[in-house]
Amino acid sequence: MTNILTDKFNRQHSYLRISLTERCNLRCTYCMPEAGVPLSPKSHLMTYEEVYNIAKTFVNHGVTKIRLTGGEPLVRKDFSTILEKLASLPVELSITSNAVIIDRFIDDLKKYGVKNINVSLDSLSKDKFTHITRRNNFDKVYNNILQLINEGFNVKLNAVLMKGFNEDEIVDFIKFTKDLPISVRFIEFMPFDGNKWDMSKMISYAEVMQFAEEAFDKKDIIRLTDAPNDTSKNYKIEGYKGSFAIISSVTNPFCDSCNRLRLTANGQLKNCLFSSEESDLLTTLREGKSIEPVIKKAVAAKFKIRGGMDTLKKLKTPDLHGKNRSMITIGG
Ligand code: GTP
Ligand code: 5AD
Ligand code: SF4
Repeated sequence: MTNILTDKFNRQHSYLRISLTERCNLRCTYCMPEAGVPLSPKSHLMTYEEVYNIAKTFVNHGVTKIRLTGGEPLVRKDFSTILEKLASLPVELSITSNAVIIDRFIDDLKKYGVKNINVSLDSLSKDKFTHITRRNNFDKVYNNILQLINEGFNVKLNAVLMKGFNEDEIVDFIKFTKDLPISVRFIEFMPFDGNKWDMSKMISYAEVMQFAEEAFDKKDIIRLTDAPNDTSKNYKIEGYKGSFAIISSVTNPFCDSCNRLRLTANGQLKNCLFSSEESDLLTTLREGKSIEPVIKKAVAAKFKIRGGMDTLKKLKTPDLHGKNRSMITIGG
């Protein structure tokens, strides 16, 4: 293999997240402003061939895992074509989806070897789901999650926690893993452009554990071994089929083990979820030039740490908002 993408801090980047579209069929309040975000003109978005060509270069530089994100990746008309193209590369393909229309894609996901599917679900209550997503798709999503599990996919649920909204469901979510072989991951609410983040709305890792310890016997809460480069701290309740986890990007960032790079739908490379700088791979590709030096330069410029409280304090939250995109155009 040619030189793996290694930064100044010796972090090796084997995981590429590709956002396929800036559009979504939900309108989650923590992800995008109510009025939506200005969308890139179609001509500025990567075609499926461009997605493939850029992905191939990353795979040639040691990327072994690609996660397709959005917006909602499945609303892209040529999603199955992209999957087919990427499946020809020696890479593990996974997807993060809101699962509203995923039932239509089960055959293709299986055919092209996707095993790991992360589904955003912030509430087990229909009313709350409608409130947070501004859409009425709870039943569809819930049934699709059960179908994915029945079809044998490895399913993780992503629940972004927000004070006064869903912390009262932490225990219900954990109990949801009793008979289902899934992982429920509680995510600390993070600041992005237009999502009205403020510290007081966030439920922390420590608070999640407090809820768990009040509801379950402490000896039954088992700390699992996290996979290398995992974003989450993993636990399970003794005897339960599934597990739960916390993604503590704010109170306990995991930048030291970061192996991730991000490609936005308009072909910009972000070396960090919170980076304000972007590298224009798409224009470089369209000009017929090699994207390799651009990628290497971006990796070399990666900051040691950008997640977490210390960074937020240093940058002052409003600056951070202004310099980054909305989550919907990053893809998580
Ligand atoms: P796995 O491949 O299953 O480990 O999934 P993942 O956690 O990498 O991806 P997913 O799309 O499910 O994202 C879950 C949450 O983790 C989202 O809120 C992401 O924004 C967050 N996340 C993913 N990668 C990073 C990262 O590099 N830094 C930070 N701070 N958060 C991340
Ligand atoms: N903070 C934390 N997680 C977020 N996600 C979207 N916006 C935020 C935010 N502000 C999560 C979604 C999705 C994943 C890719 O990112 O829940 O599952
Ligand atoms: Fe990686 Fe940036 Fe996330 Fe830190 S904040 S883990 S450097 S993506």
